[in-house]
Amino acid sequence: MGIQITPSILNADFAHLGDEVARIPSADWVHVDIMDNHFVPNLTFGPTMVEALAKATDLPLDAHLMIENPDREAAAYVEAGCRSVTFHVEASAAPVRLAREIRSLGARASMALKPATPIEPYADMLGELDMVLLMTVEPGFGGQKFLDLVLPKIRRTRELISRHGGDIWLQVDGGVSSETIERCAEAGADVFVAGSAVYTADDPDAMVGRLRDLAEEAAG
Ligand code: DX5
Ligand code: ZN
Repeated sequence: MGIQITPSILNADFAHLGDEVARIPSADWVHVDIMDNHFVPNLTFGPTMVEALAKATDLPLDAHLMIENPDREAAAYVEAGCRSVTFHVEASAAPVRLAREIRSLGARASMALKPATPIEPYADMLGELDMVLLMTVEPGFGGQKFLDLVLPKIRRTRELISRHGGDIWLQVDGGVSSETIERCAEAGADVFVAGSAVYTADDPDAMVGRLRDLAEEAAG
């Protein structure tokens, strides 16, 4: 599929989300961070809000569920219009069943790992997934510093994906900016979430383009 840039609206103006998304027309996806104040100490929005956003943009929505019970809640985000739904493996009671449910409802199924969660125990799950999300900060807030300690896991995950075969995307999320994106691309990531880097830029769409150029060059 190649390099994709998926800006996170977590640091956008929540009172004008439709307008904020219209500022990033060249994005591949819009990354929507769903937080429940339990899995992470922050609260954002639920399916009703997501449904309204889906109607306000032609860009596909990529939901990142940072919630305690993704097994129960994920379907509502597919029904709300998300084309990709990511659940945290640390929170899921039955990740295989959940990935299959998301796919059966017609969305891409993706599994997220916090920085200290190893990929190896989940290697046999790759066939159930369309994307793996490796967090490069502890989930919960935008604007945190990129954690270089995740880089070796990005490499190991890319190797596992190559060995498995198939077009499984590898997304990184947290602290991705023009300073850090090249490291991630070199390590094997191909889908890049960027929140504060995009929404604090004077021209958010120009930043999307810049991040894409940097990643493409680094990926070779
Ligand atoms: C953090 C969220 C991220 C966040 C990224 O828990 O999952 O998607 O919005 O923001 P930045 O790019 O500012 O780290
Ligand atoms: Zn996210």
